[in-house]
Amino acid sequence: MAKIGVFDSGYGGLTILREIRKVLPEYDYIYLGDNARAPYGTHSFDVIYRYTLQAVQYLFDQDCALVILACNTASAKALRTIQQNDLPPFREGRGRLVNVLGVIRPTVEAVPAITKNGHVGILATPATVSSESYVLELEKIAPELTIVQHACPMWVPLIEAGEHNEPGAKYFIGKYLREILAKDPQIDTLVLGCTHYPLMKERIDNWLEFRHELDESEFPQPTDSPKVTTIAQGELEADSLADYLARHPEYREQLSQNGTCTYLTTENADRFAQSALNFIGEKIEAETISLGA
Ligand code: DGL
Repeated sequence: MAKIGVFDSGYGGLTILREIRKVLPEYDYIYLGDNARAPYGTHSFDVIYRYTLQAVQYLFDQDCALVILACNTASAKALRTIQQNDLPPFREGRGRLVNVLGVIRPTVEAVPAITKNGHVGILATPATVSSESYVLELEKIAPELTIVQHACPMWVPLIEAGEHNEPGAKYFIGKYLREILAKDPQIDTLVLGCTHYPLMKERIDNWLEFRHELDESEFPQPTDSPKVTTIAQGELEADSLADYLARHPEYREQLSQNGTCTYLTTENADRFAQSALNFIGEKIEAETISLGA
């Protein structure tokens, strides 16, 4: 029997795994965080593709039939190439069905129903922003939307270092939010287009709610700007996976159902377990593995 693999460059995918396990607790999961090589979001296409492929291959070798790229950067840069070029030989070699799913499509599909005024902002890593994946996908299903994107290169490093709840993180939270709102002050919907960002969602929402009262007189926020809703991806991805399994019995019937989760990291296992406790509020045991060069 097979498992479901959930992959991210680091801790961010835990925000997706947590919601998936709420909706689909019966299945067996393997979480893999490539913490030793995070962040991915500042790397080139070639590097992101190579690292992601190594992780997918590793998870297939651990008997995963489905791998969720719980990482927008990997979904934006590597998913299509893996689906088109790498999956057919994987399937032949293993003599079983295997598939890889991303996080961008389920998020994009939710956006048009959430925005009231059609002004949407995408916050993501530099790699996701440069791929234009969100803009291209949104334009296909909702060409009437006004979309701006903004890269937040410091947010993932802050989270990976466990510094995102410290007072110093406030500077970078305000900086990127101010910058995207300067591009379009009418934004009413902000997509947190990186699975790490929900770990700062409370602070982001707090800044947005009280932005007109901040003592940042050199960056005054227009008082007529709308209330902003932030979108985290966990629940969207969980519902999308449940829907996928309902429509694909050929995968569902391969999956074992003991409700377990194994945690793998390319970094120190104790550090991963400690951080995971802070992030998902659950005490876990982790194991260190190597994905290659
Ligand atoms: N969680 C990844 C994402 O959704 C983080 C990328 C990174 O490692 O920079 O994009």
